[in-house]
Amino acid sequence: HRQGNAYSPAVHLSSKVQNGKLYLAVFVSVLGPLSFGFVLGYSSPAIPDLITTNDDRVRLNDDQASWFGSIVTLGAAVGGLLGGWLVERIGRKLSLMFCSLPFVFGFAIITAAQNLWMLYVGRALTGLASGVTSLVVPVYISEIAHERVRGTMGSCVQLMVVTGICGAYVAGTYLGWRWLALCCSLPPTLLIVGMCFMPETPRYLLSQGKRREAEEALRFLRGPDAPVQWECARIEEACDHQGAGFKVSDLLEPCVYKPLAIGVLLMFFQQATGINAIMFYAENIFEDAHFDNRALGTVIVGLTQVFFTGIAALIMDRAGRKVLLCISGVAMTISAAVFGVFFHLTTGQHNNTSVRAMASGVEGSLGAGPEVDLAWLALASMGIFIAGFALGWGPIPWLVMSEIFPSNVKGFASAVCVLTNWGNAFIITKCFQDLLALLTNAGTFWLFSSMCAINVVFTIAFVPETKGKTLEQIQDNFRGTPAQ
Ligand code: BGC
Repeated sequence: HRQGNAYSPAVHLSSKVQNGKLYLAVFVSVLGPLSFGFVLGYSSPAIPDLITTNDDRVRLNDDQASWFGSIVTLGAAVGGLLGGWLVERIGRKLSLMFCSLPFVFGFAIITAAQNLWMLYVGRALTGLASGVTSLVVPVYISEIAHERVRGTMGSCVQLMVVTGICGAYVAGTYLGWRWLALCCSLPPTLLIVGMCFMPETPRYLLSQGKRREAEEALRFLRGPDAPVQWECARIEEACDHQGAGFKVSDLLEPCVYKPLAIGVLLMFFQQATGINAIMFYAENIFEDAHFDNRALGTVIVGLTQVFFTGIAALIMDRAGRKVLLCISGVAMTISAAVFGVFFHLTTGQHNNTSVRAMASGVEGSLGAGPEVDLAWLALASMGIFIAGFALGWGPIPWLVMSEIFPSNVKGFASAVCVLTNWGNAFIITKCFQDLLALLTNAGTFWLFSSMCAINVVFTIAFVPETKGKTLEQIQDNFRGTPAQ
């Protein structure tokens, strides 16, 4: 009977809902993903600087540079666990304010670094903060947003991640690594200040039995004339269904294990596309294509991601999650396969060539010769791959993670998802070189292509469409009692 109650008033009362303050709250909270984008993008301009610096206390060799890049993903995996615990303990708003601290301290330590350990600690701390943020912000947004704009609002998370990555690339063309780190600490500073004025989520407040505060929060978010009593009642009813707190026995419930399996697999598949390896390789592709300015190349990659993630955000609530995931998966399957063909044609004779060796112009470099003519193929397939990722597999796993879990398991289940995502990001970026050596360049990209094809099948078979549904209706579907 719930949907009957839920829909009719929603439709005619929703005209009274004003989303202005909701947009403000989303805008402030996505300073978190913006900071996490800066962390991801920081290493790209900073590493060449740190490899060539005159200061031998902080000069990096290749191996140290690879740790400097990847330690962030390890920190973030731990941050995911911490975030899962924090959102339940201190709530969504305070967790969000808390994660500014390791961001700011981490960047401060990097700015002041006197030795390698300070660099590593700074990176690990900013990684930890990124992990907490990547859990808390999607949860915060999904719990404050009205269902009709939840897809667009939730996609802003990834939009700000890629904006941050691009921002770091652009700022890195002007600033040295110390000044860049200082500049990266601005968004998290604004986050902690801005969040002081934003509300806790109504769902968290109701789960704590704070009805009056929840109504106030809803009034702030939906405007003075919105039916806040009715929305509170609807959320409370769902909370009654779900019971309080997470218990291990909950894992036997279909409304818990089904979304958990889907969330974890979405995260695994997002990383299995090889996005982080391909982004890492992007600079070298540009170099091989005789783009003299590598920094400009990375900025172009960054802008492509921002542009297509923006389109995804705009159409998310109309097109739906499933359609976009499929289009994105197909685009990535084809472009990664073509990428493989490119390698096959150009480096077939150098089976064990590593990307790094190619980049430094040792063996297998495309240099002059017939391969140069194919550089456009590499550029085009990389462009389509990045655009494809941005349209679906970039934003949607984070969005769906924030939509499918019942409130009582949200902290735990999201932590498992975030751990899966960052753990796999670490494994893939660290093992990329070994994969190239084992499978050849072409084989590695064909492997990524096959994973993207499996993503499409998985999406069609298992991912639920959450467009336009309330969080409560999504959970009803998993429970097997879809409301009539
Ligand atoms: C992924 C990251 C990736 C980033 C790039 C995020 O959704 O989780 O691993 O680096 O997108 O756009």
